[in-house]
Amino acid sequence: MYEELEKVRLACETCHKCPLGDLRTNSVFSDGVPNSKLMLIGEAPGYNEDMQGKPFVGRAGQLLDKIFEAVGLSREKDVYICNTLKCRPPENRDPLPAEKTACRPYLDEQIAILKPRIILLCGRVALTSFLPQASSISKVRGQWFDGPYGSKMMPIFHPSYLLRNPVKRPGSPKALMWDDIREIKRVYDSLSD
Ligand code: URA
Repeated sequence: MYEELEKVRLACETCHKCPLGDLRTNSVFSDGVPNSKLMLIGEAPGYNEDMQGKPFVGRAGQLLDKIFEAVGLSREKDVYICNTLKCRPPENRDPLPAEKTACRPYLDEQIAILKPRIILLCGRVALTSFLPQASSISKVRGQWFDGPYGSKMMPIFHPSYLLRNPVKRPGSPKALMWDDIREIKRVYDSLSD
């Protein structure tokens, strides 16, 4: 499994299937535990991720770590983290459809090799990559969908959105995220290793 994954990672490092390949400092393949039951798919690398070659290492990533830690999960032990795009779009703009199409086989290979039991679609870009018919993240977050290889898939808010909406009161994005992460942990604990 690790050898196959390493081949895909190396292919990303030298990829020029879309113009973002010419702009990157580093491709950003993954972080966390490859044989985890839980995979989180974000959007695309930002400035910090491009510099360090690791997903979710900026402010949004720190909040993501805190959310996992709140239910006793960590990227060092329990979670595999990756993105829909492996290279940073300039000025952190939304990924273009052509970029998503070019990069998609890498993500599909990550999923096919690792076969996670739970896939979290973190934010709108990941959501529409897997559930194109879904109207908005607010409508579908917290719900379970059937994912690839028999996995359970749940859309969740992106931590950047939570940083922009920091108030925690009943029904707010932060409160809903708290409900979602507890439900994720409940299902995570119910799955055999
Ligand atoms: N936002 C994402 O969606 N992915 C990252 O890796 C960093 C920020």
